Amino acid sequence: MTQIAIIGTGRMAQALGLAWKNAGHGVTFGSRSPSVRSASDVGVPVKAHRDAIRGSEVVVLALPYRAVEGTARALASELTGKLVVDISNPFDALPDNRVSGAEITARALGPGARVIAAFKDNFAITLGRPRDEHGRQRDVHYAGDDETAKRTFARLVTDMGFTPVDCGPLRNARVLDAMVPLMIELDGRYQGKGQSSWKFLA
Ligand SMILES: NC(=O)c1ccc[n+]([C@@H]2O[C@H](COP(=O)([O-])OP(=O)(O)OC[C@H]3O[C@@H](n4cnc5c(N)ncnc54)[C@H](OP(=O)(O)O)[C@@H]3O)[C@@H](O)[C@H]2O)c1
Repeated sequence: MTQIAIIGTGRMAQALGLAWKNAGHGVTFGSRSPSVRSASDVGVPVKAHRDAIRGSEVVVLALPYRAVEGTARALASELTGKLVVDISNPFDALPDNRVSGAEITARALGPGARVIAAFKDNFAITLGRPRDEHGRQRDVHYAGDDETAKRTFARLVTDMGFTPVDCGPLRNARVLDAMVPLMIELDGRYQGKGQSSWKFLA
């Protein structure tokens, strides 16, 4: 069992929290308003950011892109040594393909940060449905520089019922960031209704 803190209590946090809770992992949400949201909709405890991170091996930043860098900087000392998963989508807040949101997060955390970029191209609605209506297993694409952290993360993805696809070093998160607007375009064009996924066929 892995202890996972998910910072944020929105759509992605709830979907990931439920999937990992159902897979037998320990999940805690971190919220700016833990007293308001003491118990989440999916039965996961909600704590203040620092309290959620304490005792967790893996921390998922499930925040709007514009909140990620500042939050990472504020929590940098608590996040030292943790596997940090950045799922945020910058869209047009970044110059295309020159830097990724996850690289900015890694810089905000400082030397030794173990950041993985992931779930960027997984619509929230699909996270509870690892197979589509044709039985095809969905992918989770991820990028990062720490091979040990990536092995741990791949097991968490497998436990959710998805196929982990290692997309290489963290700089390749630039490509993952760019895949998201294209997926939204394709989902609309082909009436995917938010249930489309990218699939890598080796
Ligand atoms: N929705 C999708 O299908 C999808 C798919 C892939 C990736 N993503 C990415 O995942 C991230 C989360 O998306 P979401 O759909 O879950 O968003 P969301 O439903 O809006 O939830 C975001 C959560 O972040 C916290 N938050 C909001 N503003 C904040 C701020 N200024 N500072 C600190 N915390 C703040 C809130 O939790 P508290 O109020 O409890 O603190 C909120 O519940 C985004 O970056 C998005 O681009 C989304």
